Amino acid sequence: MTPVSLGIENVALRFGATEVLRDINLAVAPGEFFALLGPSGSGKSTLLRLIAGFNRNQSGRVLIAGRDVSGVPPWKRNVGMVFQNYALWPHMTVAQNVAFGLEERRLPAAEIRRRVAEVLELVELAGLEQRRPGQLSGGQQQRVAIARTLAIEPQLLLLDEPLSNLDAKLRLQTRQQLKKLQRRLNITTLFVTHDQEEALTTCDRIAVLDQGVIQQVGTPLQLFDHPLNRFVAQFVGSVNLFAGRFSRDGSGLLFHSQALGEVALPASLTAPDPHGELAFRPHAVRLCAGDTPAAHEQMRLAGVVQSQEFLGEFLRYQVRVGSGLVLVDQSHARGEQPLPVGAPVTLLVPAPEIRFIAA
Ligand SMILES: Nc1ncnc2c1ncn2[C@@H]1O[C@H](COP(=O)(O)OP(=O)(O)O)[C@@H](O)[C@H]1O
Ligand SMILES: [Mg+2]
Repeated sequence: MTPVSLGIENVALRFGATEVLRDINLAVAPGEFFALLGPSGSGKSTLLRLIAGFNRNQSGRVLIAGRDVSGVPPWKRNVGMVFQNYALWPHMTVAQNVAFGLEERRLPAAEIRRRVAEVLELVELAGLEQRRPGQLSGGQQQRVAIARTLAIEPQLLLLDEPLSNLDAKLRLQTRQQLKKLQRRLNITTLFVTHDQEEALTTCDRIAVLDQGVIQQVGTPLQLFDHPLNRFVAQFVGSVNLFAGRFSRDGSGLLFHSQALGEVALPASLTAPDPHGELAFRPHAVRLCAGDTPAAHEQMRLAGVVQSQEFLGEFLRYQVRVGSGLVLVDQSHARGEQPLPVGAPVTLLVPAPEIRFIAA
């Protein structure tokens, strides 16, 4: 099957007086694995249901393969949706669950048998046809839900937090299987999640949604390295953010903030606006014991260790600088002792790791 494109143009949706989606615009390419990432309540499920035809937009258009589907009922849209709770029939076997949509479409029995076998093979559930959902693990149930959706051969696959009911290990394994399956089928897929790691690892591109507004669209690397605003910087990864004012003196750029005081920034940097936020990732900071001078093109902050947490691969420090707290992640080498609370330290941040975010 040739994959289709999905277009969302100026879509807005209200429930009563509540604006849930505001001027949504998206262009998903044929065959793309696209994530909708946002916190709980940001409007992800509402948008997905709208694409499937279960919600109606007050304005704007939804285009599947370039065709406006606004007036088309859900069952004629050729869209497959996997719900967060799977919605399997508990009294039916795996095979009956998967066949359900095909029987509704009155396909011939032989064709139904063929398709059921094919999709169960695809999601690696062959052999479990006669089990009931209650006799399956969470991961297997999730794959039955996907198989049931794929059986109707949708042009568009919509997945609403499909991994959220699985435990951490299984989630990891299942998201890799899902990615492989999506690649193999080459089906345009919209994947809803509130989990930034899931979106970063699984999808080609991501749209970050907050309060019904798309904050940014980009590849995982683009979002992480070039967040456009405070929300994206904080939601995709962790970040140190300090609000303040920039000024130039004879020797270079200065940053004045209530939390950090006055900080000299590397000479190569230029601030786009006089006011804004200074942003840098915890892993981009080098932590040195005691007083260490800045090297060329580094920002230097002096502070005191306030707390530390050992996370296995790395140590996360909170360092007090002025009246602010800076998060610092340092990779852990075997046998190395963490710096104790109260230790005076120097933080060094290389110029390319420093970003300015508009106020
Ligand atoms: N049928 C509905 N009637 C009224 N409000 C709704 C309805 N469905 C969702 N909402 C509201 O819309 C907002 C977005 O919900 P939802 O799309 O489920 O968010 P998400 O999936 O991102 O967690 C929430 O504030 C929610 O309470
Ligand atoms: Mg939801």
